[in-house]
Amino acid sequence: MKYDFTSIMNRQGKDAIAVENIPIPGAAVREGFDKIPMWVADMNFPTVPTIPEAIIERAKHPAYGYFRPTDEYFNSIIKWHEIRNGVTGLTKECIGYENGVLGGVVSALNIYCSKGDNVLLHSPTYIGFTNCITNNGYRIVHSPLVKDADGVWRMDFEDMEKKIVENKIHATVFCSPHNPCGRVWERWEIEKAMEIYKKHDVFVVSDEIWSDIILSGHKHIPTQSVSEDARNRTVAIYAPSKTFNLAGLVGSYRIVYNKWLQDRMEKESSLSHYDSLNVLSIHALIGAYKPEGYEWVDELRETITGNVNFACDYIAKHFEGVEVSKPEGTYMLFLDCTKWCEKHGKTIDELQKAGVAVGVIWQDGRPFHGPCHIRMNLALPLSRVQEAFERLDKYVFNA
Ligand SMILES: Cc1ncc(COP(=O)(O)O)c(C=O)c1O
Repeated sequence: MKYDFTSIMNRQGKDAIAVENIPIPGAAVREGFDKIPMWVADMNFPTVPTIPEAIIERAKHPAYGYFRPTDEYFNSIIKWHEIRNGVTGLTKECIGYENGVLGGVVSALNIYCSKGDNVLLHSPTYIGFTNCITNNGYRIVHSPLVKDADGVWRMDFEDMEKKIVENKIHATVFCSPHNPCGRVWERWEIEKAMEIYKKHDVFVVSDEIWSDIILSGHKHIPTQSVSEDARNRTVAIYAPSKTFNLAGLVGSYRIVYNKWLQDRMEKESSLSHYDSLNVLSIHALIGAYKPEGYEWVDELRETITGNVNFACDYIAKHFEGVEVSKPEGTYMLFLDCTKWCEKHGKTIDELQKAGVAVGVIWQDGRPFHGPCHIRMNLALPLSRVQEAFERLDKYVFNA
């Protein structure tokens, strides 16, 4: 590989919550074990060098006053979506800045809904959605994803329609690819969901923050691309943050084709008075969406595909009672530990603490609606993933 996905990066003392925090209350790492960060959704790979180069180049000019994004910024986004997702007809006018993807989700709900309105979400659900939607005065109605005979998470279209009608729902947040289940939705699935939304006048926020992290054999289909109606009823939100490990720089964007929605989003996003670009994060995006960035993401996808294959094979062979649907996108595993806990007479809290004790810093799945689940981040060099699984084998699942 051209880029470095094998060196172990020392993030200690570098402001990284991935290594500074332990997300399981009361859990601690035993002496003799180093921490392997496998929880919050950032990566333990150095990003593509064109990003720090672009930031440093801009930083050399010692004035960072008010500014406007350049055409280079918009053109970089337009080209990225054309080349990676086959999107045509995207213009500068359709692109709007958002500090964060979640802020964009809330802005879109604010124009779609009245306070207290019901919003449809699939469960399991990304914890950030739960927090920002409820904190902003909306009620979430869940339509559970269900595993098919092959263990693939699927939408339950009948249930979605029933919930929409019963709860008078006119807004939904669609997560594509899905965090934490790792589904990369197929075209027919998105089409079918969008037909239901059209039939019942449901406006859509499509969170596509994970759309670049698609594993081998799968393809991301932008929600807005499935029909003319989908293009017009959807606010889609993207960012280079997940793809290139830039969450700490802040900087996302929305794509909206419908003129009325564009104007409403522009107005709503401006209300906090500071939903504006950071000059260094603009240059980071331009550096990310350079030709090197395209190559880097392809190598990242290959690396994560390898890690996912390793982890899922290891679980199937060694961790009896732990169930997982193989992700098709993202770098998250959502482990169902129900059978293991039952068999070993352990609670999910005890299991989670046992992992942390040997340095595997993983995350409680309950806030994502997995009652006996663990969410695990695989964006690390394979040697670290192997080390984590060997520790889990020896000290936790088969101790
Ligand atoms: C589906 C999804 N949306 C949004 C976010 C957060 O985005 P931001 O930090 O830009 O608000 C995450 C982070 O993990 C995520 O998984």
